[in-house]
Amino acid sequence: MKIRIENSIEKKTGLLCGFVLTNSNKISGLPKFDVKTTSSINQSLKDMDGKFGKLSIIHTPGEKSNERILLAGIGKKEDITKDTIRMISGKMAQKARELKLKEFSVIMPPSFVTESNSAITQIIEGVKMALYNFDKFKSEKSNNILDLTIITSKSNKILEIAKTAEIIAEGAIFTKSVANLPPNECTPTTLANFAKTISKKGKMKCKIISEPELKKQGFGGISAVGKGSKNEPKLIVMEHNSGRKNEKPIVLVGKAVTFDTGGISLKPGASMDEMKFDKCGGCTVLGIMKAVSELKLPINIIGIIPSVENMPSGESYRPGDIIKLYSGKTAEILNTDAEGRLILADALAYGEKQYSPKAIIDFATLTGACIVALGTNVAAITSNDEKLTKKINDASKRTTEEIWELPLNQDYMDMIKSDVADMKNVGIGRAAGTITAAAFLKNAIEKTPWTHIDIAGVAWTQGATKEKSYNPKGATGFGVRLILDYLQNL
Ligand code: BES
Ligand code: MG
Ligand code: ZN
Repeated sequence: MKIRIENSIEKKTGLLCGFVLTNSNKISGLPKFDVKTTSSINQSLKDMDGKFGKLSIIHTPGEKSNERILLAGIGKKEDITKDTIRMISGKMAQKARELKLKEFSVIMPPSFVTESNSAITQIIEGVKMALYNFDKFKSEKSNNILDLTIITSKSNKILEIAKTAEIIAEGAIFTKSVANLPPNECTPTTLANFAKTISKKGKMKCKIISEPELKKQGFGGISAVGKGSKNEPKLIVMEHNSGRKNEKPIVLVGKAVTFDTGGISLKPGASMDEMKFDKCGGCTVLGIMKAVSELKLPINIIGIIPSVENMPSGESYRPGDIIKLYSGKTAEILNTDAEGRLILADALAYGEKQYSPKAIIDFATLTGACIVALGTNVAAITSNDEKLTKKINDASKRTTEEIWELPLNQDYMDMIKSDVADMKNVGIGRAAGTITAAAFLKNAIEKTPWTHIDIAGVAWTQGATKEKSYNPKGATGFGVRLILDYLQNL
């Protein structure tokens, strides 16, 4: 998809889209039309009254510059947010696709542009993300060659903001497209190959650690969980070194269980297919690293993805096993379905020891309890560092990927104490399941500021997920825009 920015409508467009506010009798930024068109627009404006999400199409046979006008309601002026702009922009794009057009235009309302900011970012994100469609395995593909023209006052700064928005949206789309892959088509080796490809394109270093090296180097968590599958485990490490030579990096870690059956502690059958999304944390890191290299961010960033398939077999690890993690600490396994914390603990300890980073941020579809606590529109964040949490919170306000902090004090650490090892891989019953999982991770880190983001509820669309045009069914790419915003504002 090509995106153009133009000061005015120059070429004929198949669909000219305008945002309509409630209680407003015009769309600001619209050019002059002939009498007939103007009266149709006025009638439609009255009928729809800018109701949020309402679309109204006006055919304009007499007009030279466009074939149709799309009025898109965005609600009351005081209720407009970056997210509502994203959602309505996405709807415009989907309408253009439905009409089988090859291009469409969006008029930027002057009120969406302030000195320091322009809604161009949200329009581009909304349009691009809404047009992504997981149709890789469908014989009939949907039309995705759809060019966009945004009508707004053009400047070098605007062009630069637009380019950045495109890269960020493409990062999120890449995350979605890998996360949506079925488990027979996406194993730890597949993810490693994706990492190699984006590293090569983005001039990043990429290292893949496989068995027997994993075992030899002490990755007891990854080795144990990976044992049950013939798709062997991988530890994927990507390095974007564009900062100063001695500047400490930021380490990003993402859980990538390409399929989580639960292992010997087998999950029930209902919805087990959704556990292909248990690799979403790792896919988030892939999408961020891709974008970071394309944006050429002048910082050092390391992406670490522990990847396994959690399967039951004669070779699987079992409840009762005691394993030794990369940190040197031992863990008693009481449930093989609590596998994410084991592979993450290895990756977190490796990240800290190998890179002495400024900060570590991890993403994981870690606990079903997170969905019970916060639902499917808000991710849980736990941390050992208030300052880092604040920065991530600030980024979250800007990108509207919502997060909520849960406490993580000593009482929760006590809940994972084991009688026979340094810790156990489950808490006490179902109490505070998201926090006891985070407590396990906290034990892997010695002193580095760290936050853990549990994306179990938000990584893909589930029953209770709020509908958003830019998040069609499937993986959402949650966290990509969030962390890119954080990194850009460092
Ligand atoms: N991948 C799951 C968590 C999950 C479940 C995410 C459902 C999204 C939707 C994780 O590996 C898991 O199975 N966790 C267990 C932990 C329990 C055994 C302590 C859970 O949440 O039930
Ligand atoms: Mg599990
Ligand atoms: Zn899992």
